[in-house]
Amino acid sequence: MDRRSFLSNMSAATVASIAGAATFSEKADALEEAMSVELDKRIATPWFCNIEPTPDPIPGDTRNYYQHNDPRLPVMPKAPTLIDFYKLRFAPANHVLQSARLAKINGFDEKIVMACLLHDICVGNLIRTDHGYWCAQMVKPYVEEEVSWAIEKHQALRFFPDLSVGYEYPDSYIRFFGADYKPEPYLVQAHEEAKNHRWYMTSRLVTLNDLYSFEEGVVVDIDDFTDIIGRNFKQPKEGLGFDNSPVAHMWRSMIWPNNFL
Ligand SMILES: [Fe+2]
Ligand SMILES: [Fe+2]
Repeated sequence: MDRRSFLSNMSAATVASIAGAATFSEKADALEEAMSVELDKRIATPWFCNIEPTPDPIPGDTRNYYQHNDPRLPVMPKAPTLIDFYKLRFAPANHVLQSARLAKINGFDEKIVMACLLHDICVGNLIRTDHGYWCAQMVKPYVEEEVSWAIEKHQALRFFPDLSVGYEYPDSYIRFFGADYKPEPYLVQAHEEAKNHRWYMTSRLVTLNDLYSFEEGVVVDIDDFTDIIGRNFKQPKEGLGFDNSPVAHMWRSMIWPNNFL
């Protein structure tokens, strides 16, 4: 963010919150908070484009580019499992872990829990836009077709209420996108088609557990899902990224997100 332009364009509310802070440290916190809100509002690029391109030099690392292992990220095992990705790349992954926990508490089938666990994994690490489609594609070779279908369709279903299960249009979307936002025609069409599909409710339940999944102070451990993952995710023995599947490159992109080419 250009700090100078941010400082000269601060809103009255931001100025007041910084001015109202009693100590220097509280003022710094207020400024940081305001900048983070501003950043969230304006930038929603894929995460692998967001890794700092010119980091401080790492002593002893004379490479021009961090091709292969980036020293700012934990090294992944040679044959990474899904759980390795949760621990070494997705962490803290609170959103998907809390969604899966909620689905489990609500007594939903393991397929729903698995879909909730996977439904947004590309958002924090790979790409945000059209994330339902990306996430579904990433996991398709390794899960039941119903699970990847449900993940893909949640992209559209989030925007359409289903009062039969108590799903309403999210208030947060009004704040994010404005009250007059209308989902694009491809989402309208995807929703119409999904409504008549035999797996509709699987995807709808992903959106239902998604919406109410943010709980302050609840920390969920991926190890709590080891058994469910074992039964519902076909872990390739070569490791995710190295099994020559059509989506291996997506997993490698998360292992080495800063490769020059
Ligand atoms: Fe999502
Ligand atoms: Fe979500």
